[in-house]
Amino acid sequence: MKYYLTTPIYYVNAAPHIGHTYTTIVADLIRRFKTMQGFEAVLTTGTDEHGQKVERSARAAGKTPEEFTTIIAAEFRQQWEKLGFKIDHFQRTTSPQHHKVVQGLFKRCLDNGYIYKSAYSGQYCFFDELYVSDAKPGDPCPDCGRPTETVTEENLFFKLSAFTEKLVELHEQNPDFLQPETRRNEVLSFLRQGLNDLSISRTTIKWGIPVPGYAPHVFYVWFDALTTYMSAVDGLDLWPADLHLIGKEIVRFHAIYWPAFLMAAGLPLPKRIYAHGWLLFENDKMSKSRGNIVRATPISDVVGIDALRYFLLREIVFGQDGSFSYDALVGRYNSDLANGLGNLASRTLTMIRQYRDGAIPAPAGAPAIAEQARETIASVIAAFERFEFSKALETLWALLSAVDKYIVEQAPWKLIKKPDAAATLDATLYTAAEVVRIATALLAPVIPDSTAKIWAQLGMSEPLESVRIDRLAWGQLAGGQKIGEVAAVFPRIDAGVAIPKMQELEIAETARQAALLGKAPSPPQDLIAIDDFVKVDMRVGVVLDAQAVKGADKLLHMKVDIGEAKPRSIVAGIAEAYKPEDLVGRKVVIVANLQPRKLRGIPSEGMIVAASVEGGKPVLAGFHEDIPVGARLK
Ligand code: MSP
Repeated sequence: MKYYLTTPIYYVNAAPHIGHTYTTIVADLIRRFKTMQGFEAVLTTGTDEHGQKVERSARAAGKTPEEFTTIIAAEFRQQWEKLGFKIDHFQRTTSPQHHKVVQGLFKRCLDNGYIYKSAYSGQYCFFDELYVSDAKPGDPCPDCGRPTETVTEENLFFKLSAFTEKLVELHEQNPDFLQPETRRNEVLSFLRQGLNDLSISRTTIKWGIPVPGYAPHVFYVWFDALTTYMSAVDGLDLWPADLHLIGKEIVRFHAIYWPAFLMAAGLPLPKRIYAHGWLLFENDKMSKSRGNIVRATPISDVVGIDALRYFLLREIVFGQDGSFSYDALVGRYNSDLANGLGNLASRTLTMIRQYRDGAIPAPAGAPAIAEQARETIASVIAAFERFEFSKALETLWALLSAVDKYIVEQAPWKLIKKPDAAATLDATLYTAAEVVRIATALLAPVIPDSTAKIWAQLGMSEPLESVRIDRLAWGQLAGGQKIGEVAAVFPRIDAGVAIPKMQELEIAETARQAALLGKAPSPPQDLIAIDDFVKVDMRVGVVLDAQAVKGADKLLHMKVDIGEAKPRSIVAGIAEAYKPEDLVGRKVVIVANLQPRKLRGIPSEGMIVAASVEGGKPVLAGFHEDIPVGARLK
């Protein structure tokens, strides 16, 4: 049985970043999962290469659209290869074969009476030579801010309005067609307002697929782009797709336009659309203008692609927005992979090596763990089916914790010393190894590289990817099987080393991609290295004395003990915010290694740390918990 799934095809006017990678990781996971369920799973991704914006990006880069799109499409393809994704079809909208399928789809819609010519009015920026969709007359151009002008041209229209009822019916009767539920509700309420017909061609744009029989019309981007899902597998008997994975911002195109085009052409509809949320960077939406876009390869180069895959799938509830941060990535890796799965696997295998000469004991297991494992297999598979990845991983980690606890209780290191405890020791080791095997198989779609290593260490002969995940059962690990060589699969990551390294590579990667796009690299952010930060010696101090400074309304003169032989004399501009008597005894933060200077003739041997907003009073930095004087801030 086949399972055909797709990612969006990505625009080539930007280079791949972690947002594109996120969707593609999930697609790769589902493809692997479906394969392990016995499906012939096929994944299509690709690049969306037509339209005005691409034409302009090419021009800005001093390239023809053909040259430019070839470079960026190759960049996407190479990234996915480097990250180890199993992609079956990488479709470019500039491929002649795609053109044929788009033109064929149009022909069917035309023959069925759903296409007509009419005048189209839209807002246009003459300076940028760009249509500004959803703009009203007089609205500014989002790129240059100049007022847009209304232009009218003859376009081909698709009778979208004719499908309002059918689309409402589709979404009402098939709650699974579009998920999550929030997206389905949005689409239904949009549909209930009625649909306008849709312009699907342009005559002012050159860089597009010619509409057959209507020169000089070319297809407007979405008619062209959506058809990729079919053109990529044309003639392969894979249509309709089982799943379109998309980000939430392109739901309308997929859940309204696309089914309408297919209905008009008399072709089968995709079975399911799933729209996930946005990946934010440290709680801010990633965007080019904020300059906070992160790329995947610098991360995978330092901590491995599995660390990123695990983090994104465990940390973010699929379907909702979620945040990426380097700290959280390293934190998750260390707690769940290094200390969790990695530690369990190496500890179990090392004991089997030491106590049982590297041979798995005969099947016998702790009944409670075996039962939990059976339940875990069923619920992890069910959660994967519902795309509840974080829940699946949470359930699996509960099993890992239960085994950890069980090992500690059984204490194999004590059992080995008791001659009459051999059977108990066997059962303990078998239980732990069997959980490692089951967890490894269930995790193979999520962290394929690392699970393959653990699988080999367990001494399994069957390749991991050919394991039937739906036939996993307790007790299949063969007694007597010789384990492989044991090595740490998830070495602990030192955040202080790994994070600056990732940030450094990220800067280099940004510059490399900017050059590919023909853009001047964005000005370097004023980031400082950790070495710069540690130069600042900040200490906890206590104010021993505070006095107003004569003739200076804003200044206070303090004596602050920072744990040295003699208190420091510090002059600070905080008199408007604090009374001297309120400061005595208060713990404060002092920058201790500033060059001393004199203010109003009084020596100031450091700076007191305070925060303020523009025009506001300073607020002294302090602590909620107690901390001794002299402690250093790091
Ligand atoms: N070319 C269209 C899609 C046509 S599909 C027939 C397009 N391209 S895009 O390059 O902008 O890619 C958008 C998709 O990339 C999103 O729908 C999502 O899958 C992924 N993401 C891009 N940035 C993202 C985040 N910050 N967060 C999550 N996913 C993101 O739209």
